[in-house]
Amino acid sequence: MKCLVTGAAGFIGSHLVDALLARGAAVTGIDNLKLGRRKNLAKALTNPNFKFFEANINDLPSCSRIISWQSKPKPFSIAWHLAANSDIRAGVADPDVDLRDTFLTTYNLLKQMREHKIPRIAFASTSAIYGELDRQLTEDIGPLFPISSYGTMKLAGEAAISSALESFLERAWIFRFPNVVGSRATHGALLDFAHKLKKNPAELEVLGDGKQKKPYLHVAELIDAMLFITDNAAEKLNYFNIGTSANVTTVKYMAEAVVKQMSPGAKIRFTGGDRGWIGDVPKVNYSVEKLKKLGWSPKLTSNKAVDRAVAEIVAEVKTP
Ligand SMILES: NC(=O)c1ccc[n+]([C@@H]2O[C@H](COP(=O)([O-])OP(=O)(O)OC[C@H]3O[C@@H](n4cnc5c(N)ncnc54)[C@H](O)[C@@H]3O)[C@@H](O)[C@H]2O)c1
Repeated sequence: MKCLVTGAAGFIGSHLVDALLARGAAVTGIDNLKLGRRKNLAKALTNPNFKFFEANINDLPSCSRIISWQSKPKPFSIAWHLAANSDIRAGVADPDVDLRDTFLTTYNLLKQMREHKIPRIAFASTSAIYGELDRQLTEDIGPLFPISSYGTMKLAGEAAISSALESFLERAWIFRFPNVVGSRATHGALLDFAHKLKKNPAELEVLGDGKQKKPYLHVAELIDAMLFITDNAAEKLNYFNIGTSANVTTVKYMAEAVVKQMSPGAKIRFTGGDRGWIGDVPKVNYSVEKLKKLGWSPKLTSNKAVDRAVAEIVAEVKTP
Protein backbone atom coordinates (compact mmCIF):
# COMPACT_ATOMS: atom_id res chain seq x y z
CA MET A 1 0.00 0.00 0.00
CA LYS A 2 1.30 3.44 -0.93
CA CYS A 3 -0.34 6.34 0.89
CA LEU A 4 -0.36 10.11 0.75
CA VAL A 5 -1.18 11.77 4.09
CA THR A 6 -2.02 15.48 4.26
CA GLY A 7 -1.75 17.18 7.66
CA ALA A 8 0.87 14.53 8.46
CA ALA A 9 2.67 16.55 11.16
CA GLY A 10 -0.53 17.33 13.04
CA PHE A 11 -1.92 15.65 16.13
CA ILE A 12 -4.01 12.95 14.43
CA GLY A 13 -2.04 12.85 11.16
CA SER A 14 1.22 11.94 12.90
CA HIS A 15 -0.43 9.05 14.77
CA LEU A 16 -1.97 7.87 11.49
CA VAL A 17 1.44 7.98 9.79
CA ASP A 18 2.90 5.80 12.58
CA ALA A 19 0.04 3.30 12.27
CA LEU A 20 0.31 3.07 8.45
CA LEU A 21 4.08 2.56 8.67
CA ALA A 22 3.54 -0.15 11.30
CA ARG A 23 1.32 -1.93 8.73
CA GLY A 24 4.19 -1.87 6.22
CA ALA A 25 2.80 0.92 4.01
CA ALA A 26 4.99 3.39 2.14
CA VAL A 27 3.88 6.85 3.29
CA THR A 28 4.42 10.34 1.89
CA GLY A 29 3.39 13.10 4.27
CA ILE A 30 2.66 16.72 3.41
CA ASP A 31 2.13 19.50 5.96
CA ASN A 32 2.80 23.24 5.91
CA LEU A 33 3.66 23.10 9.64
CA LYS A 34 1.22 25.93 10.33
CA LEU A 35 -0.30 23.99 13.24
CA GLY A 36 1.61 20.72 13.04
CA ARG A 37 5.14 20.09 14.32
CA ARG A 38 8.06 18.18 12.84
CA LYS A 39 8.62 16.80 16.37
CA ASN A 40 5.39 14.78 16.04
CA LEU A 41 7.06 12.84 13.22
CA ALA A 42 10.27 12.08 15.14
CA LYS A 43 9.62 8.32 15.07
CA ALA A 44 8.33 8.20 11.48
CA LEU A 45 11.30 10.16 10.13
CA THR A 46 13.62 7.32 11.14
CA ASN A 47 11.65 4.92 8.89
CA PRO A 48 12.93 4.59 5.28
CA ASN A 49 9.34 4.02 4.12
CA PHE A 50 8.40 7.56 5.15
CA LYS A 51 9.00 10.76 3.17
CA PHE A 52 7.99 14.17 4.50
CA PHE A 53 7.48 17.40 2.56
CA GLU A 54 6.81 20.80 4.08
CA ALA A 55 4.32 22.31 1.61
CA ASN A 56 0.96 24.03 1.41
CA ILE A 57 -1.72 21.84 -0.20
CA ASN A 58 -3.08 24.98 -1.86
CA ASP A 59 0.26 25.56 -3.63
CA LEU A 60 -0.68 23.46 -6.65
CA PRO A 61 2.63 23.59 -8.58
CA SER A 62 4.68 22.51 -5.52
CA CYS A 63 2.26 19.75 -4.56
CA SER A 64 2.00 18.53 -8.12
CA ARG A 65 5.81 18.23 -8.29
CA ILE A 66 5.94 16.33 -4.98
CA ILE A 67 3.11 13.95 -5.87
CA SER A 68 4.40 13.33 -9.38
CA TRP A 69 7.91 12.56 -8.06
CA GLN A 70 6.59 10.35 -5.25
CA SER A 71 4.22 8.52 -7.63
CA LYS A 72 7.18 6.80 -9.26
CA PRO A 73 7.68 3.94 -9.71
CA LYS A 74 4.37 3.01 -8.09
CA PRO A 75 1.32 5.33 -7.91
CA PHE A 76 -0.46 6.19 -4.67
CA SER A 77 -3.42 3.95 -3.92
CA ILE A 78 -5.05 6.32 -1.39
CA ALA A 79 -4.91 9.85 -0.01
CA TRP A 80 -5.68 10.32 3.69
CA HIS A 81 -6.79 13.94 3.89
CA LEU A 82 -6.35 15.45 7.34
CA ALA A 83 -4.96 18.91 6.54
CA ALA A 84 -7.37 21.57 7.80
CA ASN A 85 -7.64 24.50 10.12
CA SER A 86 -8.37 22.67 13.38
CA ASP A 87 -8.72 25.90 15.36
CA ILE A 88 -12.48 26.58 15.28
CA ARG A 89 -12.07 29.90 17.11
CA ALA A 90 -9.58 31.18 14.52
CA GLY A 91 -12.19 30.47 11.83
CA VAL A 92 -14.84 32.43 13.75
CA ALA A 93 -12.51 35.44 13.93
CA ASP A 94 -11.61 35.14 10.23
CA PRO A 95 -13.69 32.70 8.13
CA ASP A 96 -11.13 32.98 5.30
CA VAL A 97 -8.93 30.67 7.38
CA ASP A 98 -11.50 27.89 7.00
CA LEU A 99 -12.15 28.66 3.36
CA ARG A 100 -8.41 28.25 2.64
CA ASP A 101 -7.26 25.54 4.99
CA THR A 102 -10.45 23.51 5.53
CA PHE A 103 -12.25 23.71 2.18
CA LEU A 104 -9.70 24.66 -0.48
CA THR A 105 -7.25 22.05 0.78
CA THR A 106 -9.95 19.45 0.03
CA TYR A 107 -10.88 20.97 -3.33
CA ASN A 108 -7.23 21.29 -4.39
CA LEU A 109 -6.29 17.83 -3.16
CA LEU A 110 -9.12 16.40 -5.28
CA LYS A 111 -7.68 18.25 -8.28
CA GLN A 112 -4.29 16.65 -7.59
CA MET A 113 -5.89 13.24 -7.19
CA ARG A 114 -7.54 13.60 -10.60
CA GLU A 115 -4.26 14.70 -12.19
CA HIS A 116 -2.15 11.98 -10.58
CA LYS A 117 -4.80 9.24 -10.73
CA ILE A 118 -5.10 8.57 -7.01
CA PRO A 119 -8.32 6.53 -6.85
CA ARG A 120 -9.34 6.63 -3.17
CA ILE A 121 -9.70 9.23 -0.44
CA ALA A 122 -10.16 8.92 3.33
CA PHE A 123 -11.37 12.25 4.72
CA ALA A 124 -11.33 13.63 8.28
CA SER A 125 -14.74 15.25 8.69
CA THR A 126 -16.35 16.25 11.95
CA SER A 127 -19.43 16.24 14.17
CA ALA A 128 -19.44 20.04 13.61
CA ILE A 129 -21.16 19.50 10.22
CA TYR A 130 -24.40 18.67 12.11
CA GLY A 131 -24.65 22.12 13.74
CA GLU A 132 -26.62 22.43 16.97
CA LEU A 133 -29.41 19.85 16.84
CA ASP A 134 -31.45 18.77 19.83
CA ARG A 135 -31.59 15.12 18.78
CA GLN A 136 -29.37 12.13 18.28
CA LEU A 137 -26.96 12.64 15.40
CA THR A 138 -27.31 9.75 12.97
CA GLU A 139 -25.40 9.85 9.69
CA ASP A 140 -28.46 10.34 7.45
CA ILE A 141 -30.26 13.26 9.11
CA GLY A 142 -30.74 16.54 7.28
CA PRO A 143 -30.91 19.28 6.25
CA LEU A 144 -27.65 20.20 7.95
CA PHE A 145 -26.98 23.74 9.15
CA PRO A 146 -23.53 24.03 10.78
CA ILE A 147 -22.94 26.90 13.26
CA SER A 148 -19.21 27.43 12.60
CA SER A 149 -17.35 28.23 9.40
CA TYR A 150 -15.21 25.17 10.20
CA GLY A 151 -18.30 22.90 10.15
CA THR A 152 -19.53 24.64 7.01
CA MET A 153 -16.28 24.08 5.12
CA LYS A 154 -16.06 20.43 6.22
CA LEU A 155 -19.62 19.87 4.99
CA ALA A 156 -18.65 21.51 1.68
CA GLY A 157 -15.62 19.17 1.59
CA GLU A 158 -17.93 16.14 1.95
CA ALA A 159 -20.01 17.51 -0.94
CA ALA A 160 -16.91 18.02 -3.12
CA ILE A 161 -15.88 14.41 -2.50
CA SER A 162 -19.37 13.16 -3.32
CA SER A 163 -19.33 14.91 -6.69
CA ALA A 164 -15.76 13.75 -7.46
CA LEU A 165 -17.04 10.18 -7.05
CA GLU A 166 -19.27 10.77 -10.07
CA SER A 167 -16.34 11.63 -12.31
CA PHE A 168 -12.93 10.25 -11.35
CA LEU A 169 -12.79 8.96 -7.77
CA GLU A 170 -13.24 5.26 -7.21
CA ARG A 171 -14.05 5.16 -3.49
CA ALA A 172 -14.29 7.50 -0.49
CA TRP A 173 -14.41 7.08 3.25
CA ILE A 174 -15.71 10.04 5.24
CA PHE A 175 -15.05 9.91 8.98
CA ARG A 176 -17.05 12.26 11.17
CA PHE A 177 -14.77 12.55 14.18
CA PRO A 178 -15.97 13.48 17.68
CA ASN A 179 -13.59 15.42 19.94
CA VAL A 180 -10.31 13.54 19.86
CA VAL A 181 -7.77 13.60 22.70
CA GLY A 182 -4.32 12.20 23.34
CA SER A 183 -0.58 12.73 23.08
CA ARG A 184 0.89 15.21 20.54
CA ALA A 185 -2.23 17.41 20.82
CA THR A 186 -1.75 20.68 18.96
CA HIS A 187 -4.96 22.28 20.29
CA GLY A 188 -8.01 21.56 22.43
CA ALA A 189 -9.32 22.19 25.93
CA LEU A 190 -6.99 19.75 27.74
CA LEU A 191 -3.90 21.33 26.22
CA ASP A 192 -5.22 24.85 26.94
CA PHE A 193 -5.89 23.94 30.56
CA ALA A 194 -2.43 22.42 31.03
CA HIS A 195 -0.72 25.50 29.52
CA LYS A 196 -2.82 27.89 31.61
CA LEU A 197 -1.92 26.00 34.79
CA LYS A 198 1.75 25.98 33.88
CA LYS A 199 1.56 29.79 33.66
CA ASN A 200 -0.61 30.25 36.76
CA PRO A 201 -0.58 27.17 39.03
CA ALA A 202 -3.00 28.84 41.48
CA GLU A 203 -6.05 29.26 39.23
CA LEU A 204 -7.57 27.81 36.07
CA GLU A 205 -9.94 29.95 34.02
CA VAL A 206 -12.44 27.83 32.07
CA LEU A 207 -14.57 29.31 29.27
CA GLY A 208 -18.31 28.65 29.74
CA ASP A 209 -20.11 27.13 32.74
CA GLY A 210 -18.33 23.75 32.61
CA LYS A 211 -21.56 21.93 31.71
CA GLN A 212 -20.80 21.46 28.00
CA LYS A 213 -21.09 17.72 27.34
CA LYS A 214 -19.44 15.92 24.45
CA PRO A 215 -18.14 12.46 23.56
CA TYR A 216 -14.33 12.21 23.60
CA LEU A 217 -12.33 9.51 21.88
CA HIS A 218 -8.68 8.66 22.47
CA VAL A 219 -6.53 9.14 19.36
CA ALA A 220 -5.29 5.52 19.47
CA GLU A 221 -8.89 4.29 19.23
CA LEU A 222 -9.70 6.81 16.50
CA ILE A 223 -6.85 5.51 14.32
CA ASP A 224 -7.95 1.94 14.99
CA ALA A 225 -11.49 2.86 13.85
CA MET A 226 -10.26 4.65 10.70
CA LEU A 227 -8.22 1.63 9.63
CA PHE A 228 -11.08 -0.74 10.50
CA ILE A 229 -13.51 1.26 8.37
CA THR A 230 -11.23 1.45 5.33
CA ASP A 231 -10.58 -2.30 5.64
CA ASN A 232 -14.23 -3.24 6.01
CA ALA A 233 -16.55 -0.68 4.40
CA ALA A 234 -16.60 -1.19 0.63
CA GLU A 235 -19.37 1.03 -0.73
CA LYS A 236 -18.41 3.65 -3.25
CA LEU A 237 -19.17 6.34 -0.62
CA ASN A 238 -18.71 5.26 2.99
CA TYR A 239 -19.53 7.72 5.79
CA PHE A 240 -19.43 7.04 9.50
CA ASN A 241 -19.68 8.84 12.83
CA ILE A 242 -16.77 7.66 14.97
CA GLY A 243 -16.99 7.90 18.73
CA THR A 244 -18.81 6.92 21.85
CA SER A 245 -22.57 7.27 22.02
CA ALA A 246 -24.17 7.07 25.43
CA ASN A 247 -21.29 8.41 27.42
CA VAL A 248 -20.04 11.96 27.30
CA THR A 249 -17.67 14.07 29.38
CA THR A 250 -18.32 17.51 30.85
CA VAL A 251 -15.82 20.34 30.61
CA LYS A 252 -15.89 20.49 34.44
CA TYR A 253 -14.66 16.86 34.58
CA MET A 254 -11.85 17.71 32.16
CA ALA A 255 -10.79 20.80 34.10
CA GLU A 256 -10.72 18.86 37.38
CA ALA A 257 -8.72 16.03 35.81
CA VAL A 258 -6.05 18.43 34.51
CA VAL A 259 -5.91 20.32 37.83
CA LYS A 260 -5.42 17.04 39.70
CA GLN A 261 -2.42 16.05 37.53
CA MET A 262 -0.91 19.44 36.86
CA SER A 263 -1.49 21.58 39.91
CA PRO A 264 -3.53 19.94 42.71
CA GLY A 265 -5.37 22.54 44.77
CA ALA A 266 -5.68 25.12 41.97
CA LYS A 267 -8.98 26.99 41.99
CA ILE A 268 -11.23 26.55 38.93
CA ARG A 269 -13.02 29.72 37.75
CA PHE A 270 -15.78 29.31 35.15
CA THR A 271 -16.43 32.40 33.01
CA GLY A 272 -20.14 31.45 32.64
CA GLY A 273 -22.47 31.01 29.66
CA ASP A 274 -23.53 27.72 28.08
CA ARG A 275 -20.66 27.54 25.58
CA GLY A 276 -16.95 28.26 25.41
CA TRP A 277 -17.01 30.43 22.27
CA ILE A 278 -19.13 31.26 19.21
CA GLY A 279 -19.41 28.18 17.03
CA ASP A 280 -18.91 25.80 19.98
CA VAL A 281 -21.70 23.19 20.07
CA PRO A 282 -22.29 22.71 23.83
CA LYS A 283 -23.98 19.30 23.76
CA VAL A 284 -23.35 16.52 21.28
CA ASN A 285 -25.48 13.37 21.25
CA TYR A 286 -23.76 11.08 18.78
CA SER A 287 -25.13 7.89 17.24
CA VAL A 288 -22.43 5.32 16.51
CA GLU A 289 -24.82 2.46 15.70
CA LYS A 290 -23.74 2.33 12.03
CA LEU A 291 -20.11 1.76 13.01
CA LYS A 292 -21.13 -0.73 15.69
CA LYS A 293 -23.02 -2.71 13.01
CA LEU A 294 -19.88 -2.73 10.85
CA GLY A 295 -18.11 -4.33 13.85
CA TRP A 296 -16.16 -1.59 15.66
CA SER A 297 -16.75 -0.05 19.08
CA PRO A 298 -14.37 1.85 21.36
CA LYS A 299 -13.06 0.09 24.45
CA LEU A 300 -12.62 3.26 26.51
CA THR A 301 -15.52 5.32 27.82
CA SER A 302 -15.36 9.04 27.13
CA ASN A 303 -14.15 9.79 30.68
CA LYS A 304 -11.48 7.06 30.51
CA ALA A 305 -10.26 8.44 27.15
CA VAL A 306 -9.97 11.87 28.79
CA ASP A 307 -8.12 10.42 31.83
CA ARG A 308 -5.57 8.71 29.57
CA ALA A 309 -5.11 11.84 27.45
CA VAL A 310 -4.68 14.08 30.52
CA ALA A 311 -1.79 11.93 31.75
CA GLU A 312 -0.15 12.08 28.28
CA ILE A 313 -0.69 15.80 27.72
CA VAL A 314 0.38 16.86 31.22
CA ALA A 315 3.61 14.85 30.82
CA GLU A 316 4.30 16.60 27.48
CA VAL A 317 3.53 20.08 28.84
CA LYS A 318 5.65 19.53 31.97
CA THR A 319 8.61 18.33 29.88
CA PRO A 320 8.29 19.93 26.42
N1 LIG B 1 -8.85 16.84 16.94
C1 LIG B 1 -10.17 16.74 16.87
O1 LIG B 1 -10.83 16.64 17.91
C2 LIG B 1 -10.87 16.72 15.53
C3 LIG B 1 -12.27 16.60 15.53
C4 LIG B 1 -12.93 16.57 14.31
C5 LIG B 1 -12.22 16.62 13.12
N2 LIG B 1 -10.85 16.75 13.16
C6 LIG B 1 -10.15 16.83 11.87
O2 LIG B 1 -9.06 15.91 11.86
C7 LIG B 1 -7.99 16.44 11.10
C8 LIG B 1 -6.72 16.45 11.93
O3 LIG B 1 -6.95 17.31 13.06
P1 LIG B 1 -5.89 17.50 14.21
O4 LIG B 1 -6.64 17.57 15.48
O5 LIG B 1 -4.79 16.52 14.07
O6 LIG B 1 -5.40 18.98 13.90
P2 LIG B 1 -3.93 19.51 13.60
O7 LIG B 1 -4.05 20.98 13.45
O8 LIG B 1 -2.97 18.99 14.61
O9 LIG B 1 -3.62 18.87 12.17
C9 LIG B 1 -3.96 19.47 10.94
C10 LIG B 1 -2.66 19.64 10.17
O10 LIG B 1 -2.95 20.21 8.88
C11 LIG B 1 -1.90 21.11 8.57
N3 LIG B 1 -2.41 22.06 7.57
C12 LIG B 1 -3.39 22.97 7.72
N4 LIG B 1 -3.57 23.67 6.58
C13 LIG B 1 -2.67 23.16 5.68
C14 LIG B 1 -2.37 23.46 4.33
N5 LIG B 1 -3.00 24.44 3.67
N6 LIG B 1 -1.39 22.74 3.72
C15 LIG B 1 -0.72 21.77 4.36
N7 LIG B 1 -0.97 21.45 5.66
C16 LIG B 1 -1.93 22.14 6.30
C17 LIG B 1 -1.52 21.76 9.90
O11 LIG B 1 -0.23 22.31 9.92
C18 LIG B 1 -1.69 20.59 10.86
O12 LIG B 1 -0.46 19.90 11.05
C19 LIG B 1 -8.41 17.83 10.64
O13 LIG B 1 -8.94 17.73 9.34
C20 LIG B 1 -9.50 18.19 11.62
O14 LIG B 1 -10.41 19.11 11.08
C21 LIG B 1 -10.16 16.80 14.33
